[in-house]
Amino acid sequence: MKALVLAGGTGSRLRPITHTAAKQLVPVANKPVLFYGIESLVAAGVTEIGIVVGDTAEEIRAAVGDGARFGAEVTYLRQERPLGLAHAVLVAREWLGDDDFVMYLGDNFVVGGISGLVADFREHRPEAGILLTKVSDPTVFGVAELAADGGVLSLQEKPSQPRSDLALVGVYLFTPAVHEAVRAIEPSDRGELEITDALQWLLDHDHAVQATVVTGYWKDTGNVLDMLEVNRSVLDTLDGTVAGSVDAESQLVGRVRVEEGARVERSRIVGPAVIGAGSVVRDSYIGPSTSVAGGCLIEGSEVEFSIVLDGCRIDRAGRIEGSLLGRTVHVTGAPRAPRAHRLVLGDHSRVHLTT
Ligand code: TTP
Repeated sequence: MKALVLAGGTGSRLRPITHTAAKQLVPVANKPVLFYGIESLVAAGVTEIGIVVGDTAEEIRAAVGDGARFGAEVTYLRQERPLGLAHAVLVAREWLGDDDFVMYLGDNFVVGGISGLVADFREHRPEAGILLTKVSDPTVFGVAELAADGGVLSLQEKPSQPRSDLALVGVYLFTPAVHEAVRAIEPSDRGELEITDALQWLLDHDHAVQATVVTGYWKDTGNVLDMLEVNRSVLDTLDGTVAGSVDAESQLVGRVRVEEGARVERSRIVGPAVIGAGSVVRDSYIGPSTSVAGGCLIEGSEVEFSIVLDGCRIDRAGRIEGSLLGRTVHVTGAPRAPRAHRLVLGDHSRVHLTT
């Protein structure tokens, strides 16, 4: 069995973060979301991995390399344009050969991994296996309608009138039967070859599609709160370790990971939280569910329930909560009058000010 990991696409929903970085590399607890996917494939015994890449190919390649450090063998498959998930299967046709495969969306996160699902598929081997999860807004997902016995009746892509609240999770299991389906379907109204249409084609041609309902799943919906939540749930599984330094005037409460070369001075950190390599936290409070990446400086500030990417500087900024800061963002307090906000923000930035 092989794995096809999709790491192309445009990432419009996570802007502005994805203006400058591949969304699959957005970190969760200081590790790119894509790495969790690769690790769960390897844990499920799938080590031959093809990664579909687009415009951000170089960045993905630099992060993942040949896969050896994951215990995997990675091949890169270039998709010229993001023409849909089913199009990615077309692009990978030759590399996939006649093997069964797991298709894994590189920006998705499945809590608890996929080992059980892969084992189950291997045992029963339906033509396709899909994962479903209950969501509050099915209109932004692929949606499945199930019969009373759990069989899949129909699939719809981002329906305005959803027939259920069961959304497709970004992990699919396929036998080579899918190749005929992706060749047969036409592009949708948004110009993409939809994997939901390929699955519907399989259903229409009497192929078995097996659904499993799971809990604990995340996909970017452009909603930063969702990202903070998945970060929180991963941090909850963290072990507290101090590889950097914590001075005598500081206090670490609960599970806090202080990575190599990081320095905590005259500060209080309440876990679960991670302070990335080489970052400095001085005269500050870091609250639960916060990931600070590497090379940051946080001074005289409070940060809670937030993700702070590499190289940020937060200086006398008061309290920051529920926030996602991209790389090398500077947030600086200005104690003097006039009490005005001075902002330099990239396109599509969102700022909530307490006035
Ligand atoms: P999506 O989130 O469906 O699409 P997108 O990346 O274009 O994002 P947005 O809608 O916010 O602009 O993609 C799911 C995953 O599949 C993601 O990791 C990108 C990848 N992908 C491809 O590799 N090729 C494609 O043609 C598409 C559509 C997505």
